[in-house]
This record gives sequence, C-alpha cells and structure tokens, in this order.
Amino acid sequence: MTHVTIVASPTASVASEVDLTWRDESACAATATALAQALRAGLEGGASMVIELHGTLGAGKTTFTRHLLRALGVQGRIKSPSYAVVEPHELPGHTVHHFDFYRFNDPQEWEDAGFRDLFAAPGLKLVEWPDKAAGLLPTPDLRLHLAVPDETRREVKLEALSPEGRAALSAVIPSSPAAEGGPVHA
Ligand SMILES: Nc1ncnc2c1ncn2[C@@H]1O[C@H](COP(=O)(O)OP(=O)(O)O)[C@@H](O)[C@H]1O
Ligand SMILES: [Mg+2]
Repeated sequence: MTHVTIVASPTASVASEVDLTWRDESACAATATALAQALRAGLEGGASMVIELHGTLGAGKTTFTRHLLRALGVQGRIKSPSYAVVEPHELPGHTVHHFDFYRFNDPQEWEDAGFRDLFAAPGLKLVEWPDKAAGLLPTPDLRLHLAVPDETRREVKLEALSPEGRAALSAVIPSSPAAEGGPVHA
C-alpha cells in the first residue's frame, strides 16, 4: 500500500528520484528490506555505499535504519548512536557504520575519531543528521528525505546521486505501483 511517483533522470534510463508514501511503519520496513536485498551482494563483494537520512526528530530515520540493519542480518538490540556518533555493526563479509551527527559540533573529531577513514573504506555508511557534518561528508549514493504529515504516515523522497545509488533505488520501487493506484511518470 505504497503510493509512488517516479521521476526519470535526464541522463540515465533509471530513475534518480522516487517519491513514496509510507502509510505505516510496515511500509517503512518493506522499503528498508527491499533496499537491504539490493545492497547485500555488493556490500559482501567490498562495495562502498553512503546513505543520508534527512528529516526532523521523530521522522523515522533510526526506525528505517533499524529495519535495514535487521534485513541485512544484524541480530540483538540495535542501539541508536546518538551519544557515540557512530555505532558499528559487524556482519559476515562487511561492516555497517550507523552515524548520527545530531550532537556533532567539533570538526577536529572528524579526523580524531577516524571518520574520514571510515567513509573512505568499503561498507555501508548510514548517516542521520548529515547537515551537521556538511562540508566533511562525501557525496552520498542515496538520500532519503522523510516528512511527517501525521502520526503514522511518512512522505519519502529517495534521491540517487551515483550509478550505484540509482541501481539501489530501482530495487525499492514496488513492482506494480500502477496496480496500487499510485501515479507513475516514466
Ligand atoms: N510510517 C512510519 N515510518 C517510520 N516510523 C514511523 C512510522 N509511523 C510511525 N513511526 C514511528 O515514528 C518514530 C520515529 O522515530 P525515530 O526513528 O527515532 O526518528 P528519527 O531517528 O528520525 O528521529 C518511531 O516511534 C516509529 O515507530
Ligand atoms: Mg534518530
């Protein structure tokens, strides 16, 4: 039950922007699971992928990340990295780093904490509050923008900024959006 608008990229045959509506958290989980399935093989093969999560407090950035991590195989409690800035998750064949820059205010920490090295290394980097580390972060492969029209609904814009991001994006588009009544512009 996800409404979808697909905006074709002027330079590629694959969409670079997709608008979704999550009617409830299960729709968020479905998108996260589809994305995890699309990313898994590449990550296990040593790919690097940076995903930014934009949206206000309570928009669902951590919730989406938790569903994505679960779908990638992370077990046990998934801590939010708010205080530590980064939480690593070891998986067979790759490591996911979950960042939350909400309390980040010392650019020196970027070097001291080894964040430059983490972003240069292979693996998945999920980034909450990327605006707080603007100028330090590399261009991401994907951006999610989450807006909150009401308690359970989320308006989601997914934006791809690399070929890898576009490939991942195509995997999260529900297979027959027209059948669900959503507007589709090819
Ligand atoms: N459709 C939805 N998608 C994601 N989260 C939702 C949705 N509807 C309600 N929620 C709730 O919104 C809250 C989002 O909190 P959180 O993920 O911590 O936000 P953020 O990390 O953006 O500050 C959670 O309590 C989650 O259960
Ligand atoms: Mg959060």
